[in-house]
Amino acid sequence: MSERVGEDRGAAEVAARWRASAAGDTVLLDGFHAIKHALRFGADIPLALAADRDAALGLAERLAPDLAERLAALLTPVPAATLAALVARPHPTGVAALAVPARRAPAHGPAPAVLLDNPRHLGNIGAVIRVAAGAGARGVLTTGTVDPWHPSVVRAAAGLHWATAVHHVEPGELPSHGPLLALDPEGADLRDMTVDDGALLAFGSERAGLSPGTRQRADALVALPMRPGVSSYNLATSVAMTLYHWLAKGR
Ligand SMILES: C[S@@+](CC[C@H](N)C(=O)[O-])C[C@H]1O[C@@H](n2cnc3c(N)ncnc32)[C@H](O)[C@@H]1O
Repeated sequence: MSERVGEDRGAAEVAARWRASAAGDTVLLDGFHAIKHALRFGADIPLALAADRDAALGLAERLAPDLAERLAALLTPVPAATLAALVARPHPTGVAALAVPARRAPAHGPAPAVLLDNPRHLGNIGAVIRVAAGAGARGVLTTGTVDPWHPSVVRAAAGLHWATAVHHVEPGELPSHGPLLALDPEGADLRDMTVDDGALLAFGSERAGLSPGTRQRADALVALPMRPGVSSYNLATSVAMTLYHWLAKGR
């Protein structure tokens, strides 16, 4: 058998393994940074591919030396054409992986959790998960029809879903321990209060704001200061400001 035929067969076998894994309950980790974060925070990654394995391991040495050994064991080399056939628009770092989602509700703990009340924009949800992970929030719950584990959300979150708890809930399943603080421009100024560690911080959808049900359930409506003439902040920005307030003042 020629070397070329052996290579083709190897790539075909890897592609078949990828397709079988992708057909199960896995999400795409697109690019080096998503794989790095997911691995660091305990994701189960059945398969990871690299179009240029040496370049990917070079990135690991520079940007994630703590993971260099694990990435060396994990990354399977494939021709760039195979990667492009498996992943639409491969990431410039030329790596992609499949990971098993860790769908779990936030546990009780010493930090607030975030509730997104029917969010619509996948990039916004990812940005919220990223800031929640960075700030050490207990988790991000979402209501509505969008799956917070959608691949575009995982991409926007840079793979940080595994660094916090990310879960879809029905409105009737919201945790009841701790106060529910609902963020709304009509509320009381956040600067005058301390956010309890056990709080659930609710944010409305991009178009419609808070749902009537969340408004009704809220223990308080809380506002982020804005100068006159500005109607609202972006959803992810609002979450970031509120979590920063908790980090700076509440702890
Ligand atoms: C883009 S805003 C929604 C705007 C929407 N048109 C509305 O009527 O509320 C998305 C969410 O961010 C939060 N938010 C935005 N600006 C805020 C502010 N100044 N104070 C408190 N929450 C804010 C709220 O939870 C809001 O529902």
